[in-house]
Amino acid sequence: MEHFSAAKNDNSLTSGSMLLALLIIVMLLYSKITTAEALSFSPYVDKSGNISLPKDFRTSMTHLGSWFVPEGTASGFHDVYTEADSVRVYRDTGKFPDGATLIKELRSSTSADYTTGKNVSYATGDIKQWFIMIKDAQGRFANNPTWGDGWGWALIKTSNTQKSVTTNYRTECLGCHMPAKKTDWIYIEGYPTLSMPKKQ
Ligand code: HEC
Repeated sequence: MEHFSAAKNDNSLTSGSMLLALLIIVMLLYSKITTAEALSFSPYVDKSGNISLPKDFRTSMTHLGSWFVPEGTASGFHDVYTEADSVRVYRDTGKFPDGATLIKELRSSTSADYTTGKNVSYATGDIKQWFIMIKDAQGRFANNPTWGDGWGWALIKTSNTQKSVTTNYRTECLGCHMPAKKTDWIYIEGYPTLSMPKKQ
């Protein structure tokens, strides 16, 4: 009798630990999947929706176009970049894909006379700041006031490229982007690279 009950106890112990092991495996798999999901959305966004400046974007991304602002605090060149893949998707569909990154870099400028003409403007090495928008087609960060209207919105200063200073995109960004509402808040006319090239 004693022998039997001991064997029974052993069995229940084994199935108990097997269940525990199974539970741990399931939990590990689940956390792997959710991490992979977060990573595949954007490498520049953390779990809470904080946006950081992509490293080396000038060499790894495509230059979409530049604006030249002649005066005021935003004066200088505004150079805009996105991923080469985002350009391809935009050319095919007319939309930015989920996770697409748009970076606008503000550079100071100066001008001089060149063999091409007088008063030719060019960008200096002096960077003022960066504006970033990250496409979010799923409304992932509903409770974060720097996300909404299909994008994550960030202003990054040169003092800390890991942290956006934006606290509320509605008051700090959206008003100025109203004229571009119909084109998903992007001033598309400045980015000829997004259209298929005409015959060259
Ligand atoms: C003073 C008005 C103004 C404010 C404030 C503003 N933007 Fe813009 N933004 C513009 C204009 C106009 C352009 C395109 C022309 C230019 O750069 O001069 C632009 C372009 C951009 C671009 C390049 C892609 C595009 O939309 O054409 C990004 C990215 C961007 N803004 C992000 C932001 C973010 C993020 C904020 C808030 C933190 C913000 N902007 C606040 C006016 C503004």
